[in-house]
Amino acid sequence: MTMGRKILLDVDTGNDDAILLAMMLAAEDIDVVGITTVAGNSTLTNTTQNTLSVLELLDRTDVPVAKGAERPFVRDHCGAEWVHGENGLRGDLPGPTPSPVDQTAMEFICEQVATHGTDLTIAAVGPLTNIALAIANRLTLPDEIDELYLMGGAAHTHGNTTPVAEFNFWGDPEAASRVMQDGFPRMVGLDVTNQATVLPEFVDKLEDAAPPLTTVAQWFDYPDELMKVEYGTTVPAIHDGVVGADIIGNVLEYESYYVEVDTTDGPSRGAVICDVLEIMETEVNVVSEDRNHLSPTGYVAESIDIDHFREIISETIFSYN
Ligand code: RIB
Ligand code: CA
Repeated sequence: MTMGRKILLDVDTGNDDAILLAMMLAAEDIDVVGITTVAGNSTLTNTTQNTLSVLELLDRTDVPVAKGAERPFVRDHCGAEWVHGENGLRGDLPGPTPSPVDQTAMEFICEQVATHGTDLTIAAVGPLTNIALAIANRLTLPDEIDELYLMGGAAHTHGNTTPVAEFNFWGDPEAASRVMQDGFPRMVGLDVTNQATVLPEFVDKLEDAAPPLTTVAQWFDYPDELMKVEYGTTVPAIHDGVVGADIIGNVLEYESYYVEVDTTDGPSRGAVICDVLEIMETEVNVVSEDRNHLSPTGYVAESIDIDHFREIISETIFSYN
């Protein structure tokens, strides 16, 4: 029985989600108690099948998987197969042998919170529909657990799905809004994850290694055209891997802010409104003229130790060799 830090992962398994799974399952002192799936990079069927196939590849079919939301709260689902590949994951993995558990993701998350309480960290790296549902169902959840990490948003930088919105927040802005307002999360956004690339020689070394690393190598090798625009290279940023590296080795620095997410249906859908200057206020007291600023609602990752990030990815991924 592994006695490490208890982690529940909520994923929309695409390539960088698969890398996060491999990192967390290999990390010392980390006990992955379960995985929940959500529609995001691809359909719920695909993200669930991809997650089960990754667990089978890594010989970890002991980890339970619970299926979650097949669409966002309000909008239609819109995938990212153009980035992650036809079924959302490169490597042509065979269809998985294991099946998901009978519980829904929301039921599974709430059960794990009740079981593990302050020993539990939740890390969500897809659209936040499952997490928002779990919080709506168990309002004490954010106070019961140790930490709520999420990969999503862009606080001070441009988006990757629209000029102002990151994919997970754009995909379900209503869920992102609720989680950013009620969950007091650690928001790991594009501000830090856009820098999170690995060196080409790392991928070359993976490709020359033995299975399963030859398959894992393909998860690092998808062309991220947006990276070319900003960095002149299509080497992908391993967005979800940054959450894993911070849980394992504290590679990020954070600031706390009052944060809202735009839920309008216009060009700013999914944008993060981060009150850096603390100028957003509750209504001013007209008698005393007291001006009460809105309290922070979460932590926002501001900087990344990229060398440490790369060390942690290398240590965990090559442990499968
Ligand atoms: O914007 C990047 C995020 O959207 C990552 O989590 C990626 O896997 C997709 O879910
Ligand atoms: Ca993801």
